[in-house]
Amino acid sequence: MTGAETTSTPGWSAAAIVVALLGLGLGAWWLAESSRQAPWSAAERSTLESLWLGSLPPLPADPSNRFADDPDAAALGQRLFFDPRLSANGEVACATCHQPAKYFTDGLARGRAIGISRRNTISLVGAAYSPWLYWDGRKDSLWSQALSPLEDPQEHGSNRVDLITLVHADRAYRSAYERLFGPLQDFSGRIRFAPPGNAGASPAANLSAEDRQLVSRVFANIGKSIAAYERLLRPGVSRFDRYVEAVLAEDQPRQRQLFSPFEKAGLRLFIGKANCTQCHNGPLLTNNEFHNTGVLSAAGQVPDKGRIDGVRIARADPFNCLGTYSDAAEADCAELMFTKTGIEVLGALRTPSLRNVEQTAPYMHAGQLTTLAAVLAHYNEAPPAMIGHNEAKPLNLSRREIKQLRAFLGTLNAAPATEPRWLRPPEPWPLVEVPAQP
Ligand code: HEC
Ligand code: HEC
Repeated sequence: MTGAETTSTPGWSAAAIVVALLGLGLGAWWLAESSRQAPWSAAERSTLESLWLGSLPPLPADPSNRFADDPDAAALGQRLFFDPRLSANGEVACATCHQPAKYFTDGLARGRAIGISRRNTISLVGAAYSPWLYWDGRKDSLWSQALSPLEDPQEHGSNRVDLITLVHADRAYRSAYERLFGPLQDFSGRIRFAPPGNAGASPAANLSAEDRQLVSRVFANIGKSIAAYERLLRPGVSRFDRYVEAVLAEDQPRQRQLFSPFEKAGLRLFIGKANCTQCHNGPLLTNNEFHNTGVLSAAGQVPDKGRIDGVRIARADPFNCLGTYSDAAEADCAELMFTKTGIEVLGALRTPSLRNVEQTAPYMHAGQLTTLAAVLAHYNEAPPAMIGHNEAKPLNLSRREIKQLRAFLGTLNAAPATEPRWLRPPEPWPLVEVPAQP
């Protein structure tokens, strides 16, 4: 009897332990899952409201661009944006890399036109809300940003004198320009007959200092028109935004209709345990600040110094908020004067918006990561940065949690809230009568 008891007891207890452990494991899993499905607390609801598109304020004015909200400037800007004649080879437009059908990106790791850009193409939808442009924030306005690709040898490869010559020669461009900005001079003659300057230098180098300033002013006006167009590219209402509306209305059936339990769990991780809203916050899911998140540099590239270079470039830029071509008063340029410049921004890149993120692969500043799963694996691990210091901490998320986060990121898609006529190349110019010179 005792023999039988002693042999059977260990068998029993081993099974009991396995069952108990399984029970505990399942219990813990069930608890974690059900807490992720619980109704949203008041604090969570207010976080969700802050991420909701309905919380997006009206587009801030751009005091550095008097034409920022002028519809005629936007119409001219749209033409310039889609016009490949604004390039050295006649083939590159802004829209080559910022394609409306791809949320104004190009689907490539790095932008490609005449050459290959150093970084990944950023979406333009909602860009007008950012005080800084580019991954390193080296531009402080949309109009000033627009000037860079035009003269970048890897992108449009053009120069300001050739661009002005084009605007002057195209009757419709010229009359649209002159109605906005006043008479346009032709500089091409003066350049041809100017004494030869440095070989390979921009034709503007041959001009007198005074003419150079006139040329740069016209160039800035071209940028201001393109910026007026880009300001129309606004983010649209996503499924996530409709879900938040249902949460704020405490409408449970509608919430269940809009979000699967998996997506809800992902959203809870996003604002909670995974700490994504430390940086991806506000209705565009970006704080528009610069952070080092330890992303490895692209193969063959040196680590990107990011913001520490960007801020220096922005401050030295003749087309910045404080420059001659800006319409702003000094008091409007506080961002430029007081932004962080120290070692804490070494290797820091601008937090990108996550709206439409599912549709804008590949990811990160040089397109290093091809899928959202790879991005989430990166955050889960939080490796040490190659340069500077990674601000993100390892997350220890399970594979299921990573999939939940991934599912949530797929709820942020939406077509831009922009009239369709702005999302395609404009119709051919209407015939404009240029009044005869007296
Ligand atoms: C060769 C492809 C290419 C062309 C052509 C191009 N871009 Fe870009 N664009 C990029 C890349 C790449 C970046 C990011 C570069 C960086 O951060 O250093 C970018 C960034 C931007 C940004 C910054 C967005 C933000 O939120 O920071 C704006 C705005 C922009 N481009 C507008 C334009 C305009 C306007 C034109 C035409 C005048 C243009 N681009 C032409 C590739 C291109
Ligand atoms: C410390 C600030 C910070 C935190 C925390 C953070 N991010 Fe980011 N995120 C960034 C920055 C900065 C980049 C750009 C990094 C780069 O290109 O090197 C980025 C890039 C991304 C991208 C790529 C977007 C694109 O268009 O290329 C995704 C997706 C993303 N983050 C999602 C998340 C998620 C999900 C979390 C939470 C798990 C998270 N982020 C946490 C700052 C942060």
